[in-house]
Amino acid sequence: MTRTRVLTGITTTGTPHLGNYAGAIRPAIQASQRDDVDAFFFMADYHALIKSDDPARVARSRLEIAASWLACGLDPQRVTFYRQSDVPEIPELCWLLTCVTAKGLLNRAHAYKAAVDRNVETGEDPDAGVTAGLYMYPVLMAADILAFDAHKVPVGRDQIQHLEMARDIAQRFNHLYGQDFFVLPEVQIEEQVATLPGLDGRKMSKSYDNTIPLFAGGAKALREAVMRIVTDSRAPGEPKDPDCSSLFTLYRAFASEAQTTAFRQALEGGLAWGEAKQALYELLEGQIAPMRERYEALIAQPQHIEAILLDGARKARAIATPKLARLRDAVGLGSHAPGAGKSAAKPQADKPPRLASFRDEDGRFRFRLFASDGEELLLSRAFDDPKAAGAAQKRLRQLGAAAAVVQLTPTALLLDVDGDTLGRTPDYADEQARDEALQRLRQALDQLASLA
Ligand code: TRP
Repeated sequence: MTRTRVLTGITTTGTPHLGNYAGAIRPAIQASQRDDVDAFFFMADYHALIKSDDPARVARSRLEIAASWLACGLDPQRVTFYRQSDVPEIPELCWLLTCVTAKGLLNRAHAYKAAVDRNVETGEDPDAGVTAGLYMYPVLMAADILAFDAHKVPVGRDQIQHLEMARDIAQRFNHLYGQDFFVLPEVQIEEQVATLPGLDGRKMSKSYDNTIPLFAGGAKALREAVMRIVTDSRAPGEPKDPDCSSLFTLYRAFASEAQTTAFRQALEGGLAWGEAKQALYELLEGQIAPMRERYEALIAQPQHIEAILLDGARKARAIATPKLARLRDAVGLGSHAPGAGKSAAKPQADKPPRLASFRDEDGRFRFRLFASDGEELLLSRAFDDPKAAGAAQKRLRQLGAAAAVVQLTPTALLLDVDGDTLGRTPDYADEQARDEALQRLRQALDQLASLA
């Protein structure tokens, strides 16, 4: 089956609210579950730097957003889920695209134009407070999309122009270098996706300060927000008009058809607003509570999220690295060594990874895992009898990287399987070496599993 590659970037500013959930997270995760979709979701954290120079905020938001998507049911085995900043090919492509992008095209970008217009109106220098980052936003976004040859890009209406620019830039590159290097991405606007009203009835948005939190503040904050939803002044017993009530719109976005009909009838029959709010709260809490529990568990284990995201970056780079090698060649920046440039992408999977058992000085049973190039990746803990050591090896072969929870210490990795620390890697000089080792370990475990 040919799968459609669907890619979207998630802005990592702020904390997700109910509107983000119904409008973006829930539909994206649902779409990713289809067999004909190959989904790429990433945290647009380089883009976040354009909007915020507060490192703590950038770091926090990125973590919260990754945890939210995972808690809401995103399956990182199925979806390629990564951080933009973990894929160096993206800024590299951004430069190649920058060099073919007309400045005039960027002058017309809505966000940049709006900033200039505001300055002109207030008598400032037109470019006051405008960074080159804001100006270049559309090119970086084009690189996000084109690096992976995405077919479809689901976004909000405000992003249509950016998608048109990505197509323009891709066509220009294809034309200049004489080949169809890039798939031309199509914008996908989800018409039937819920836009939720906020507490005051206007669209739920952080900029209106009318949001209902998704996880932040727990059940208490959720309940308090629901109780603050603005309603009309109809008294208990008086019939209410559901179609003029944002409370009803919110309810409908989370309820089954039968629940919605019953709620409509209850409101028309005079249900008190206080009771209606309680019903909405219970409906929401029923769906959010299990996700919130997962969210809190994830946030308490940032190293687990880190491992998932690094694995996502590994999958993303398996596509972007060979792509960039071709593009470098195309523009004249390929290597002079014959066949180089292509080798960057070559998987080193000719020889399988290897497990080797041995007895340590104390006479206990251990094993090592070696990568295909002979590098030691893992030393198991000691087992009292060879059967237990054998069973542990078997378990590793069955699970592959999928079920391996890796804990990061500053210099090594502990592999935790079924709640049992199974072994550790050698110490690494620094965190970067350790993170690279994590990728090799996961790759080797996956290879082992595929041989099993
Ligand atoms: N600009 C998008 C937004 O504000 C986020 C984004 C960045 C994006 N890169 C992307 C969306 C690539 C789709 C594809 O929503």
